[in-house]
Amino acid sequence: MMTADAPLLSIRHLSKAFGPVQAVRDVTLEIQAGEVVGLVGDNAAGKSTFLSLLTGYNQKDSGEFLYKGHPVTVSSPRESRNRLKIEMVYQNLSLAPDLTVWQNMFLGEERRTLGIFNDRRNMVEAADRVLKELNARAGATDLVGTLSGGEQQLVAIGRALLFDRELIIMDEPTAAISVAKIVDVLRLIRHLKDRGKSVILVSHRLEDVLSVADRIVVFAHGSIKTIMRNQNLEVTDLINVMFERTKEATDGEAT
Ligand SMILES: Nc1ncnc2c1ncn2[C@@H]1O[C@H](COP(=O)(O)OP(=O)(O)O)[C@@H](O)[C@H]1O
Ligand SMILES: [Mg+2]
Repeated sequence: MMTADAPLLSIRHLSKAFGPVQAVRDVTLEIQAGEVVGLVGDNAAGKSTFLSLLTGYNQKDSGEFLYKGHPVTVSSPRESRNRLKIEMVYQNLSLAPDLTVWQNMFLGEERRTLGIFNDRRNMVEAADRVLKELNARAGATDLVGTLSGGEQQLVAIGRALLFDRELIIMDEPTAAISVAKIVDVLRLIRHLKDRGKSVILVSHRLEDVLSVADRIVVFAHGSIKTIMRNQNLEVTDLINVMFERTKEATDGEAT
């Protein structure tokens, strides 16, 4: 069994219910290395729940994850980070405003060697390297609370590069920032892709998704409705698929 050509991540028959609500039902999806996957769908389609199973914040009821072809169990955010190499960039940018950029980047994953002062310098330098790579205006010793939303997002993404994550997940990343900054986020996604990283982008801004995604996955009622390669697609094509009623639903209506 060789796994060199295996996808970065295979998700098989993933399901999750909250009481009577089947939030995710039998989702099977493969993410390739260096691939940007756009995830779209109506409110309550199950997108965030699906992601929460990947990031270990919720436990799947059934299903399987394979990382580069190897079965992996994920029962906590830590295991998601370490075993699936996933970094989640949250909509509400769960950063500590009173800490510096470098402290936020290393939060919970501080480098431990002998000599506290060397460690600190080490982490500041590493953080500054990543910030430079991302063309950030912020420096490693700036307080996060003083940064704009867009720059805070760079801190979160900097973490992904710092710890060699392979899959960066963004759930509505442009919700917290100004329109001018959206361009920066999209540029960042392309940068991550150029670095061979994979990205899952959830966004209501369909034009943004179309501008960066290799494939677009349409969620509806907890399932994947369609997967489309992003070729000659327009916003109206996505809307048509997202809101097209199924034949059964239409037939069920008395008219
Ligand atoms: N923690 C939870 N407890 C109960 N129901 C939930 C929970 N999280 C999500 N749901 C339900 O699961 C369904 C999918 O929600 P969600 O994954 O947030 O959809 P989306 O992100 O596509 O808008 C919705 O019906 C939602 O109300
Ligand atoms: Mg959501």
